[in-house]
Amino acid sequence: MIMKINRDRLHSQLLGLDLRSPCIVASSVLTGDMERIRLAERFGAGGISTKMAMPTTPPKSQPDIILRPKRSGIVSPGDKRLIIDDACSLVKQAKSETSMAVIANLLAPAEDLEAWQMMAVELRRAGADALELDISCPHIPKDVDYVPSIPIGTCVAQFPDATERVTRAVKSVVDIPVLCKLTAQVTDIAEIARACERGGADGIVAINGLRAAPPIDIWNGGRPKYSTMERHNLGTLTGTPLFSIACRVVAEIVRTVNLPVIGCGGVSTWQEAVEMMMWGASAVEMCTSIIVNGFEVVEKINAGIDNFMAEKGYSTTSDFVGAALDHVVSIDAVTFRKFDLSVDRSICNMCRLCLTPGICVAITASDDAIIIDNDRCLDCGTCVQVCPRHAIKIEYSDVGVER
Ligand SMILES: Cc1cc2nc3c(=O)[nH]c(=O)nc-3n(C[C@H](O)[C@H](O)[C@H](O)COP(=O)(O)O)c2cc1C
Ligand code: SF4
Ligand code: SF4
Repeated sequence: MIMKINRDRLHSQLLGLDLRSPCIVASSVLTGDMERIRLAERFGAGGISTKMAMPTTPPKSQPDIILRPKRSGIVSPGDKRLIIDDACSLVKQAKSETSMAVIANLLAPAEDLEAWQMMAVELRRAGADALELDISCPHIPKDVDYVPSIPIGTCVAQFPDATERVTRAVKSVVDIPVLCKLTAQVTDIAEIARACERGGADGIVAINGLRAAPPIDIWNGGRPKYSTMERHNLGTLTGTPLFSIACRVVAEIVRTVNLPVIGCGGVSTWQEAVEMMMWGASAVEMCTSIIVNGFEVVEKINAGIDNFMAEKGYSTTSDFVGAALDHVVSIDAVTFRKFDLSVDRSICNMCRLCLTPGICVAITASDDAIIIDNDRCLDCGTCVQVCPRHAIKIEYSDVGVER
């Protein structure tokens, strides 16, 4: 079902890209052919980042999707990459058949600047609105020792020099916005963000999937669990587990450089989209939640953000982008709030879940009541969040306590 949404509120301009929604479908199996790209359009995506283009015949691959428990994330060895000619045809078709912003994702070895430039020019000629340099792909190609055989993928964005060099080379041959897609698997994301800025990047996308061990069959000698593989490479963790990391990375980049950031990683609800934008993302890219739950997720997120904005009186998304940054201070400047807790017995159903947290020695139970000893309470707040009935009430006794 297509929902009724005030599109004007969701509409924004980002680096000249006309985004009818802040939700962009991230480069992946979801953006590798027109059938899926049309679904992105139908369910209200503001844009797509097309499946990774490569200069030569891509390595063998297929989208082998393994959901971690509780569908928390995907470990996937990667889907079919596009050779540059096919990527250009796809970009051309997406531009002529949809009204979404079309960002072209591309990848080449760090040292082969000519390949980066050749692809950038071709994708620009095909009509791409912007380029997304995939300098952070977690599984291209590694040898059996899991050491990169050539500097490509993640091991470009892990080095400021390589990041800057590739960015500058691409920027020198195109006149459309160039976005660097970064990984969280670095020691200092600020240093990488500065390298992007020095190289002339117009914006940053953060983050790519994280290099992670795939699930294995523990009953079968640790053999791959991938249904379609006999032997595996290391894979990529995406989805929910990335969310808090991605928000942190977005915040650190926004506080370091003066470049717009598109957040990416684990967004599956409108609240998460808003949260990531409050950490500084001008828009969000999404992949895993759509793989698992369908393109309808995009429309649900659009509707949720629209309702939220109406309720809060925001007229554009920029009214709340970065709002959370105002509340971040160094650890020395953090202040705490002291509180007393009580249990509302008219709500409590004695489920006893609040007795579980190992951090707590302040809560006990009689036959028919939960008793909280505020003198032994650490003010950690765990029980309040654990209680499914919101029966534990907080009364703040002091604000700005130094500890
Ligand atoms: C099956 C699959 C294929 C992907 N292919 C690409 C790709 O070609 N280029 C790229 O930059 N990122 C690729 N990604 C990473 C996503 O674009 C995204 O950065 C990552 O999945 C985190 O977002 P999510 O948690 O919303 O999935 C892929 C992810 C998945 C799951
Ligand atoms: S706030 Fe923490 S320490 Fe205090 S009662 Fe709740 S769980 Fe126990
Ligand atoms: S978790 Fe909440 S509802 Fe359950 S016993 Fe504790 S206070 Fe009562």
